[in-house]
Amino acid sequence: MSKYYVTTPIYYPSGKFHIGTAYTTVLADMLKRLKVMQGYEALMLTGVDEHGQKIEDKAKEANMSPKEYVDIQAEAAKKLWKTMKIDNDIFMRTTDEYHERAVQEIFEKFLKQGDIYKGEYEGWYCKPCESYFTETQLVDGKCPDCGREVKKMKEEAYFFNMKKYARKLLEFYNTHPDFIKPEYRKTEMINNFIKPGLEDLCVTRTSFDWGIKVKSDPQHVIYVWLDALTNYITALGYLSDDDSMFKKYWPADLHIVGKDIARFHLIYWPIFLMALDLPLPKTIFVHNWIMMKDGKMSKSKGNVIYPEQLIERYGLDATKYFLIREVPSSQDGLFSPEEFVQRYNYDLCNDLSNLLNRTISMVNKYFEGKVPEYNGLQNDVDEDLEKASKDVIDSFNREINDFEFGNSLKEIWNYISRTNKYIDETSPWALAKDEENIEKLKSCIYHLVANLKEIAILIRPLMEDTSDNMLRQLGMSNKVNWDTLKEYKDIKDTKVIGKGEPIFMRLKEDEEIEAIKNMMKQ
Ligand code: MSP
Repeated sequence: MSKYYVTTPIYYPSGKFHIGTAYTTVLADMLKRLKVMQGYEALMLTGVDEHGQKIEDKAKEANMSPKEYVDIQAEAAKKLWKTMKIDNDIFMRTTDEYHERAVQEIFEKFLKQGDIYKGEYEGWYCKPCESYFTETQLVDGKCPDCGREVKKMKEEAYFFNMKKYARKLLEFYNTHPDFIKPEYRKTEMINNFIKPGLEDLCVTRTSFDWGIKVKSDPQHVIYVWLDALTNYITALGYLSDDDSMFKKYWPADLHIVGKDIARFHLIYWPIFLMALDLPLPKTIFVHNWIMMKDGKMSKSKGNVIYPEQLIERYGLDATKYFLIREVPSSQDGLFSPEEFVQRYNYDLCNDLSNLLNRTISMVNKYFEGKVPEYNGLQNDVDEDLEKASKDVIDSFNREINDFEFGNSLKEIWNYISRTNKYIDETSPWALAKDEENIEKLKSCIYHLVANLKEIAILIRPLMEDTSDNMLRQLGMSNKVNWDTLKEYKDIKDTKVIGKGEPIFMRLKEDEEIEAIKNMMKQ
């Protein structure tokens, strides 16, 4: 069986996760589930990145020790992923002893082989990003990553010799076209960081205490990014007594990371792996962000939405659908209450839910609930519909392979529209008036049910509850996988539910837009 290892970044557990931060995890979960349905032995990792000054400060604010603080936050993160039915196999915590030990060992190895050396650091430090920048990297005197104030700081520190690996990294980029997706992120890395000359990276701190100590020089705390990035391998048991998972799953098939942390994953992480003499992940996909009309989500702007709020009012699947649908790989996606309500009403209610409902009521009305079997007879439009049923699988796969996840949903919804149009084209209510047309009517109803089954399978990696609900109402088993898609003509002894239950109910537009706006003020 082929294996598939997909990761999210491990999150800073420094507050509640908003819908933007949930995006990465929802995406990773969807891909893992898709791979499982396709027969892979898939493994998904997420977790928390618990060290660093930011966390130390947050704990102080909360009058707790850092460990007490991260324990509570890690539980909150786990609870959110449970609410969102995220199917992660590993929940990584960087305060776990096996991880700390492995990071110390990795640091000593780098030191021994001369990749890390001791020096003095002076630079512009961004506290929230825990990063030093040179004068030229600053943008208008501010942090190039988050735009906040930076402070001049100086400390004795260890450095990682990045320069030594620059050429090798570039070579790797050039010989592995699938390594960075989308392609333009590679160009960004080359033009902004590699071509101007890679700076050596400061990999220890002495200005705070909350981190993994350098074993041979415990005054120094290991830089949080060196600590955090290695989680992708320590989580699999790298350098532990049992590294069987590491042997099986490394290299990762896919790291999914947000655009703000591209540099760490596309430059430092591959270089650390090269220094460890380990294979590099097959692909790192850098996604764009979910933005609000007035820019980034932030408490001070009063524009933050938390996943729990949307889930409570509109359900999990509607929330996940919106997130994945709205972020293209070429630019940021936008969250607005208006857009959310429209997507809900048009895509989920009008297109999907009504299609299911109309079909179920026709199966009941014309065939007492029993789905007609494929009779080979084709109405004029059936051929076209059957072609669409094949095409949608190809175009869905193509968009997934191109990392255009929003478009993969768009393809499914085009197919849903196509199926709705088929009802108008065949006018089953007119066919039902004449006994002579019975075979045509059977064929029409059969095709509608077959398409709905196919749709239930295609949306399943993202919207499992909706898929279950559809299959139950259609009187079908939910033991489906990607191969089931091949059984388009194979519907036998199927009896739909007596009365269809709407899977999404139409929202009152103005009322709900107001409700979401109120959520944002909380
Ligand atoms: N701890 C680091 C990652 C270390 S991985 C070795 C970190 N954590 S984070 O909590 O700040 O971010 C987690 C993820 O959420 C990142 O991929 C980040 O890009 C993503 N997002 C944060 N805000 C987002 C949006 N508004 N939209 C989409 N993704 C967003 O970075």
